[in-house]
Amino acid sequence: MAIDHSRFDVAGYDAFRQRAGDPSLSGEEKIGFPASLREGAEGPIADDIAAKLGWSGVGEARVLDVGCGCGALAREIAARATARGDRLVLVDSPEMLAALDPPQGIAAVPGRFPENLDAIRAACDAFDMIIVYSVAQYVHKEGNLSAFAESAAALLDHGGRLLIGDIPNASMRARFLSSPAGLAHHRAHYDPEGAPRVPTTDEIAREINDATLLMLATVLRARGYHAYLLPQDARLPQANRREDLLVVKP
Ligand SMILES: C[S@@+](CC[C@H](N)C(=O)[O-])C[C@H]1O[C@@H](n2cnc3c(N)ncnc32)[C@H](O)[C@@H]1O
Repeated sequence: MAIDHSRFDVAGYDAFRQRAGDPSLSGEEKIGFPASLREGAEGPIADDIAAKLGWSGVGEARVLDVGCGCGALAREIAARATARGDRLVLVDSPEMLAALDPPQGIAAVPGRFPENLDAIRAACDAFDMIIVYSVAQYVHKEGNLSAFAESAAALLDHGGRLLIGDIPNASMRARFLSSPAGLAHHRAHYDPEGAPRVPTTDEIAREINDATLLMLATVLRARGYHAYLLPQDARLPQANRREDLLVVKP
């Protein structure tokens, strides 16, 4: 069945705070996803994140999850960290952290990143792995994605990795919708007879697009980090229009 995306068009950090406190919404709905999109996807998503971060190799890692939300993915990440004996620090609004109610032994730092950098450093001064998953689009709307990414990268220890993942790229979406696969997707999910409307150049320019991401990688490289744009595992729910930025501190 087609999803009414307007119900999940969340303005940003403060709107997420309100959703977190709304008892009529499920965990996935509080973080802006229709249940049908994310249901059962947390395992493959966490596998994809772990492969990119090299999460199987490092023992007792220091792991930070910025914008963790309160859905199944946050719980999956917490369960994996606990099983491995990692030190996990979660960051999100007080309301979102309350809705998640993380298991004992996991540090939670409330507040809007990067305003809470000092509190994060007090919990752990450097990290081996940082996860920022499905958050970049809200930072781009509300603030400065480049400053956000640089603040996150500055929390890495040498050899550490930051994954800014699940970034909707409007240019990639337009390429997909213009392809035979995009037409088949539209016909299967929205209109069996019709064709998808491909976003205009002006619409693409207002969203995160190829130029935003290539510039972000260039800025991070100029600051001394390796930075790579990576595709998502094809099994992930929005792999046809989203990609990941991996940042490594040499
Ligand atoms: C779409 S949800 C993603 C949640 C989780 N990472 C996932 O993929 O399941 C976006 C989350 O980012 C949080 N968020 C947005 N901007 C933030 C910021 N500047 N600092 C901390 N959290 C933020 C929101 O409160 C929300 O929980």
